[in-house]
Amino acid sequence: MTHTTPAPRDFLWGAATAGHQIEGGNTNTGHWLLENAPDTHVQEPSGDACDSYHRYGEDMRLLADAGLNAYRFSLEWARIEPAKGQVSRAQLDHYRRMIDTCRELGVEPVVTLHHFTVPLWQYQEGGWYAPDAVDRFRFFTETAAQILDDVSWVVTINEPNMMVNQSEAKIDTEVGVNFPGPSPHASQVIAAAHHASMDVLRGLGHVKAGWTVANQVYQAVPGYERERDEWGYWREDFFLEQSRNDDFVGVQSYLRTIVGPDGPVPFPDDVERTLTGWEYYPEALGHALRHTRDVTGGVPMIVTENGMATQDDARRIDYTTGALSGMASAIDDGCDVRGYLHWSLLDNYEWGSFRPTFGLIAVDRETFVRTPKPSLAWLGDLAQRGVLPR
Ligand code: NOJ
Repeated sequence: MTHTTPAPRDFLWGAATAGHQIEGGNTNTGHWLLENAPDTHVQEPSGDACDSYHRYGEDMRLLADAGLNAYRFSLEWARIEPAKGQVSRAQLDHYRRMIDTCRELGVEPVVTLHHFTVPLWQYQEGGWYAPDAVDRFRFFTETAAQILDDVSWVVTINEPNMMVNQSEAKIDTEVGVNFPGPSPHASQVIAAAHHASMDVLRGLGHVKAGWTVANQVYQAVPGYERERDEWGYWREDFFLEQSRNDDFVGVQSYLRTIVGPDGPVPFPDDVERTLTGWEYYPEALGHALRHTRDVTGGVPMIVTENGMATQDDARRIDYTTGALSGMASAIDDGCDVRGYLHWSLLDNYEWGSFRPTFGLIAVDRETFVRTPKPSLAWLGDLAQRGVLPR
């Protein structure tokens, strides 16, 4: 039996998802257009995804029944504002019912406003480069605020650094699609959108808000520490610095990146890899938390994503044990960590393919039947006991 020590008081123990990856039928977005274009590079479209738009109650109940107390999910801007300036009351009500369902189950909702997708109209006007993109996001935040009256935790924008960097590197992925083409201003635009959204949320008084940053755990080939720091600045630290004044920063950790004189160094062939091709490296989370603490100067942190894509659920438990144990020792070292939200609640659409399975719950691709994996009960048990593995 693994040795354990108590988790911090009032700790959020949960799992995370994102609208486009689970809802299904998210047709009014740039992503849908891209996925269904005749010459698309996308392996498979999101289609019905996990049909969680209709089955969210079942998903939340499975999470709650396992003993978890928090659920991070995102609002789909494209549903709430299907045409520019036109708000759908029915869709706002839909997301309000999701919040109500969390409350009925004793689950704390952590609501993300933007998780990679924008409405088709915004996409067609240039995505985040539309001249009024910041104002539009402020308007969307004001609109969403109508249903956030009892919500304590809000994420403005998910992984701004991945959107910007993948766009600038011209990496052919869905993550960067809303930044069409590289621009030195991309980071400033997305930071301005975050600050505009934060202003609105601050005005509500009761909300704790921040954004989530993909933490790449940049490590240096010995002697190349300066190159590592330069490499990491616009890819990560700039975004962490923008969280100085926020209520929390979301830490999203999966892997590490080793930097040499010419940028990232490829991993040797014999390292264990996950289904996304990433190195199996559970230690990443502890490093990510320490680095985030150091760069932000101690803004409270929530682990808003951490997990691995695998068909081997025992290995998922091993990975998460290692990650939580690294988190526990970071907490011992003074990191202020308020919660751990595993990525992901469900096997879902991993931006181009359903093949990388990150879920604590399997989803049958034909019937949408949910089958909890042992890792769900395992994580729920830690939550119930309020302990962290060491
Ligand atoms: C980060 C993203 O927020 C999420 O959408 C994605 O599925 C996971 N990482 C895994 O790649």
